[in-house]
Amino acid sequence: MPFTTTMRFRAGKYFRTVMSGMFMSRFALRLSMVLMLSASAAHAQNLSPAAPLSPQLGKVASGELVAAWDMTILPSGDGLPQGSGTTETGARLYLEHCVACHGEGGVGGLNNVLVSDEPRPFGETGGKRTVGNYWPYATTLFDYIRRAMPYSHPQSLDDNEVYALTAYLLYRNGVVPAHFEANASALPKVVMPNQEYFIRAYPDWNP
Ligand code: HEC
Repeated sequence: MPFTTTMRFRAGKYFRTVMSGMFMSRFALRLSMVLMLSASAAHAQNLSPAAPLSPQLGKVASGELVAAWDMTILPSGDGLPQGSGTTETGARLYLEHCVACHGEGGVGGLNNVLVSDEPRPFGETGGKRTVGNYWPYATTLFDYIRRAMPYSHPQSLDDNEVYALTAYLLYRNGVVPAHFEANASALPKVVMPNQEYFIRAYPDWNP
């Protein structure tokens, strides 16, 4: 069942799924949750009370829990929340929440390099894949930061802060000007430098 594998994501796994062109619709995400939940409910029924030695793992997820994970942003921007944030605010937040792992301005840190416009066309090895030279959609950057960063405290930032950090990283990558306000209408209009090098795996599928 291909959907279940995407639910076991850590941030990186989700990232790779998105980057491989398998963009999930919100419907597919919900469907996969339902499938998982019904599988775990059936499993729980099978185990009790006939199998007292089982670890009895798992419980039915509440609607609240499912809603909390129903946070996928599509490339089109579908799902982007209200709110906004500027490059200037993002620069300040970056120093507070991100610089320790990603380095000053997004380079030279312990973890992934976030800034580079050095081209890295498909098929070529070497070089770093970054937001600027690889990511196809600015909307995915919002989704990723909100879902997974800071790595040590994922989902601790509010939507305005995530918008601001998205704006800042786009600016640092030379994609938007020094003053830019990211919000639900501005982000889908940002054209990422590497976008044209992505090939749609399912050209007729328009979620
Ligand atoms: C504790 C260390 C840590 C902190 C703090 C942190 N990150 Fe990360 N970040 C990581 C790691 C590790 C990865 C790679 C995760 C993976 O591949 O699963 C990553 C990956 C990323 C990526 C994807 C990079 C790419 O192209 O592969 C982005 C974007 C990002 N972080 C943004 C942020 C932002 C914005 C903040 C601050 C709100 C932040 N990070 C704070 C450790 C951190």
